[in-house]
Amino acid sequence: MSPLRTAPSLATTPQLITNIWNIQRDPCIWCNPSEFQPEMFLTDQANVDVRGQHFELIPCGSGRRSCLGISLVLLMVHLALAHLLQGFDFETPLDAFVDMTKSA
Ligand code: HEM
Repeated sequence: MSPLRTAPSLATTPQLITNIWNIQRDPCIWCNPSEFQPEMFLTDQANVDVRGQHFELIPCGSGRRSCLGISLVLLMVHLALAHLLQGFDFETPLDAFVDMTKSA
């Protein structure tokens, strides 16, 4: 068989690893990316779609291998959060301040 007809083996298939953490904190895309401002998704970022077409925010991936559970997730996250907020009073020991601006 001609080398051109040979399917590429898994070992030689290039893999692309994207730094999504970096994209989602890029100050060229987001104003104050390290600030915890969930209300921005109700105002100036209200049009951002998390289903994988707006690459500045892709919590469930994008393309053919993106999250299969995304429709379920988008319903369940609200329900789970509502249950938690309704059922519990959240506080820290000694009312310690929680820095929401940094992660990992
Ligand atoms: C907040 C909850 C969830 C988040 C943030 C999430 C996120 C993700 C991400 C980032 C991927 C990898 C996408 C990629 O490789 O490009 C993925 C894959 C996947 N997720 Fe989720 N997921 C969640 C919940 C769920 C649930 C509830 C289900 C099933 C009921 C599910 C089923 C899957 C499956 C089957 C894949 C593999 C798809 C594939 O490789 O073809 N996920 N998810």
